[in-house]
Formats: sequence, C-alpha cells, structure tokens
Amino acid sequence: MDYTSFFNKDLLPKHIAIIMDGNGRWAKNHNKPRIFGHKNGVLSVRDVVEGAGEIGLNYLTLYAFSTENWNRPKVEITALMQLLVNTISKEVKSLNDSNVRLLAIGDLQSLPGNCEKEMLKAIEKTKNNTGLTLVLALSYSSKWEIVQAVKKLAADVKNNQLDINNINETVFKNYLQTHDIPDPELLIRTSGESRISNFLLWQIAYSELYFTEKLWPDFRKEDLFKAIGDFQQRERRFGLTSEQL
Ligand code: FPP
Repeated sequence: MDYTSFFNKDLLPKHIAIIMDGNGRWAKNHNKPRIFGHKNGVLSVRDVVEGAGEIGLNYLTLYAFSTENWNRPKVEITALMQLLVNTISKEVKSLNDSNVRLLAIGDLQSLPGNCEKEMLKAIEKTKNNTGLTLVLALSYSSKWEIVQAVKKLAADVKNNQLDINNINETVFKNYLQTHDIPDPELLIRTSGESRISNFLLWQIAYSELYFTEKLWPDFRKEDLFKAIGDFQQRERRFGLTSEQL
C-alpha cells in the first residue's frame, strides 16, 4: 500500500498508544452478544499490528483489559480471557514471522493462570525480535502502575538505596513498568468517547490525542495511517511558543 498519501514516512511518531473502544456497541448494532464485538476486535488488532509493522513503527501499545474491566459480568470476563489466550497462542508464529516483539504491562499475576502463562510464553518466544514492539496493557490501570512505582521507590528510600533529594522525574520514571519504552507521541481512542480512562497518565503528558467515531471492530490500518497524518499536521510546542520552535 502507498502510505505516502496519508503521511510523511520520515516523520513517524515512535510510539502510538490505542484505547480500543466500542466492541460492545458494535456487537449491539449487529444484534449479537458483546463477545462477538471482541472477536471482531481481534481482526482489527491483527490489521493494525500488520499496518504498524509495514510502516516501520517502533512501538504500539494496545489497551486490551483495564483494572476496571474486572467489574464486568463474569461471562464477558471469562470469554475475553479465553479470547486473549487463544489469540496470543495462535498469533505467536505470525508475530515472529513479522519480527514483532511482544511485551505486556499491567498486573499480569491477576490474570487467570493460563492467560498469564501464554502471555509470558509469547513474550519469551518473541524477545529477540527487532521490528515493532507490541505492548499489551492487560489488567492495567495507570493509577495502579503509579502506586506500584511509589511502593518500590519508598522501599528503596527505606533501605537507603535512594536519597529523597535525588528523586526527580527521570528517577521516578524508572520505577514505572514502561521505564524502557518511550512515551507515546500519539494516543488514539475509538468509538467517539473523549476520555483517557486511567491509561498511561504519566506517559501521555505531552501526547497528541486523536479521537475517532469509528468503533474498534471497524478500525483498520488505513484509519491508523489517517491518524498519523493528522498528528503530523499538528504543531507540538511542549510549553514553548510557536516562534521558539
Ligand atoms: C472495549 O470495548 C474493548 C475491550 C474492553 C476489550 C478489547 C479487547 C480486544 C479487542 C480483543 C483482544 C485483544 C488482543 C490484543 C488480542 P467495550 O467492550 O468497552 O465496548 P462498548 O464501550 O461499546 O461497550
């Protein structure tokens, strides 16, 4: 595909994060149960990961399951976890074929045993790949991640490994799960909702936000490319004036 009609490939963001939303509404529009929406959402995941690989994106983070999602009906949670296990185990080969390295953020230990196991297995099997890094946020919430970081940092202060006077933004960042991942430059949310929903709050301090009406199961790589084009039209000032840039 010729992406040059969408964006300048020399000015790609390094990291794009996506809040995949609207699976339930998409299923409802098709008079189907919610899990039908999630299953079709997997097709979007596949297409978008393929597109990200094709254009040479470095990092793609997908919000697949939030801490708050544990409050959903048990049948939906069970089906989603099963879908995750099946998808991950089925896709490892194609991730390797496409040189994609898989990572996860979130409270993996809170996932059902088989889900955590499949995830760790896939991470291990893809760890030497050098193309796209695909980060799945699973049982993730930003406030949870920040509290975990504070606990580890406090323990280091208590054990005299860290001096309070030396705490700064760079030191704090190193306690986050995302410590060796660059901050997303672009955050996309589908389904017309304009919320962050406890996702990467520290990391998106200067991200460009892109909201689209498309429901996640309708989102394809072309929509990703369109979002990148939109991102490239923006002037990122990081608190400076236009003239200073
Ligand atoms: C939000 O739609 C979507 C989710 C909570 C789950 C996302 C999961 C997938 C797309 C499938 C698995 C993903 C991978 C990475 C293999 P919603 O249910 O909140 O939709 P609604 O707002 O319309 O109800």
